[in-house]
Amino acid sequence: FHLDMDAEETDKGPYPYYMLKEVDEQPNVMRKLASTYTDESGKDTLDPELVDAIKSADRIHIVGAGTSYHAGLVGKKMFEKLTHIPTEVHVASEFAYDDPLLTKNPFFIFLSQSGETADSREVLVNVNARGFKSLTITNVANSTLSREANYTLLLHAGPEISVASTKAYTAQIAVEAILAKAVGMAKEQVTAEDFDVRQQLGLAATGMQAIIDEKETIEDLAKEYFVNATRAFYIGRGIDQTVSLESALKLKEISYVQAEGFASGELKHGTIALIEEGTPVVGIITQAKTAGLTRSNLQETLSRGAQTLTIARNGLKKDDDTIIIPDIDEMITPLLSVVPAQLLAYYTSLNKGLDVDRPRNLAKSVTVE
Ligand code: G6P
Repeated sequence: FHLDMDAEETDKGPYPYYMLKEVDEQPNVMRKLASTYTDESGKDTLDPELVDAIKSADRIHIVGAGTSYHAGLVGKKMFEKLTHIPTEVHVASEFAYDDPLLTKNPFFIFLSQSGETADSREVLVNVNARGFKSLTITNVANSTLSREANYTLLLHAGPEISVASTKAYTAQIAVEAILAKAVGMAKEQVTAEDFDVRQQLGLAATGMQAIIDEKETIEDLAKEYFVNATRAFYIGRGIDQTVSLESALKLKEISYVQAEGFASGELKHGTIALIEEGTPVVGIITQAKTAGLTRSNLQETLSRGAQTLTIARNGLKKDDDTIIIPDIDEMITPLLSVVPAQLLAYYTSLNKGLDVDRPRNLAKSVTVE
């Protein structure tokens, strides 16, 4: 623990585990980020030099590990949509071997809750040696990745203690949204003008709270579908596919159910062979363009014996949907669709009698390559 953490922040209070406390803190983190990085008119209060540096880049590269990598996948969609700058996302430990073809003026964004992940730092050392500009988005001020990058944006999420990352993921997405909007505005992109990030983060906060208020229903679902499962799937398309990866990771990390996140259309090309009688498959359905397709992919698993569940956005809901999440701009639906998945993982772990906050074989911060 850092010495400057105050007691209240690191106290579990009435919560049995930090993870539940940290899931519960997400609405406040959204509000805090909106008020820290935008003013009342909705305009960003970011360092104009940072916005300028990204504005003039010909490519954005986002680098991260684990959950931070998954937040980067969401970031790519927002940066490309709002700034029109081509964006790539890299698993930190693969960057050196991917040997990505670099353009003349790339800009690097490092996502790291701890700011200490060795795999990510290795890339940053490389980026600095080549003289490229970089930003670290992290929860820890003065962390290694923060000190060594040109710019830092803090996540303001408060200490995250549970090994399974929750509020850092949603905070990273919120900061990426604010940043993408700011750069898009600087580039006078209409898509950015139309996206009211401050208002959307407010909606995210109330939406998260509404989902959290239904946690007992989600616990019942965890008991019914996951506690006795040996494997499970989350499926979706586009941005929902990125959330399926993060949702599966949560379940794997703390409940040891072998879970895969998958592009729903790709399932039929091999992986559907794994579906057996009773295998739980969760469809994430938040995008109008792909909702129908994901629903038919779910149906395909159902007819092969799967037990299907859905996490669907209200505007797209059908009578037999399992979990409904409130409406929000389609670009930032991960802020809401991930919350039921976090809670499903939490309650699965809890009801299996596992140590939710300290799963086997894992560390909160990995400082070896
Ligand atoms: C570890 C943690 C993960 C985390 C990853 C990246 O593996 O167990 O929860 O997502 O590191 O951590 P970072 O601090 O760089 O976000």
